[in-house]
Amino acid sequence: MRVSIDTLDRKRLREQFVDQGAFVYVDRFVPGELTARLAESARALLPAVNRNYLPGHKQGGSVSRHTIDRLAPHIAELYRSRVLVEWLEAITGDKLLPSPQDDPHAYALYYYTREGDHIGWHYDTSYYEGRRYTLLIGVIDDSSCRLDYELHTRTPGASPVADSIQYPPGAIVLFDGDKLRHRITPSKAGEMRVSLTFEYVTDARMRPWRRFVSNMKDAIAYFGFRQVFNVFGAKGRPSAGPDTA
Ligand SMILES: [Fe+2]
Repeated sequence: MRVSIDTLDRKRLREQFVDQGAFVYVDRFVPGELTARLAESARALLPAVNRNYLPGHKQGGSVSRHTIDRLAPHIAELYRSRVLVEWLEAITGDKLLPSPQDDPHAYALYYYTREGDHIGWHYDTSYYEGRRYTLLIGVIDDSSCRLDYELHTRTPGASPVADSIQYPPGAIVLFDGDKLRHRITPSKAGEMRVSLTFEYVTDARMRPWRRFVSNMKDAIAYFGFRQVFNVFGAKGRPSAGPDTA
């Protein structure tokens, strides 16, 4: 799959990324043809969506990387695209690694299809030794949902800057998960929104106790116990991060 990002001004976007405390939004990134294919896959995967609900925090659906590997491998191909990863490295200034094989968040689709689907304020906390970057890709958006966010909440000496966007199909948001406080506002009846999330890490090692916490959060909040604990049998290793939008 090709990603036409040659024309984007890397230097300017890198500067924006740094100035905004490891956050950048690009409204036209994924070519139309590829976006259409992603939307088609997202609709085809609707029967595989795992619904989850944590009172007061989140409600929505998700399709994990394990299901994507089985049913939509071209998304996994895009995740590993050298062109894409090199571009992300240029913007973040870090050498990036794919999330480990057993991390269900490495690439996942998030669905907002019922009234009230949302996720409350959170960080995409890294349970790995190093940093974890989140790339959000707009796939389908027939909704009023907004990505509300606050920059610089953890920048020493800086005042937080609040803003809000609706990122349309083909747009991307890239950020360091430990630095961006964010949420997705609740969807209304009859709306539909699907977002594709790619997670990259700078160090794929995870501390054992963090692994346990992360695994439990995934099991409860996202993909279901069977998905998280049984996919790789007894050797199964859990995933990163509790929250992604
Ligand atoms: Fe998130």
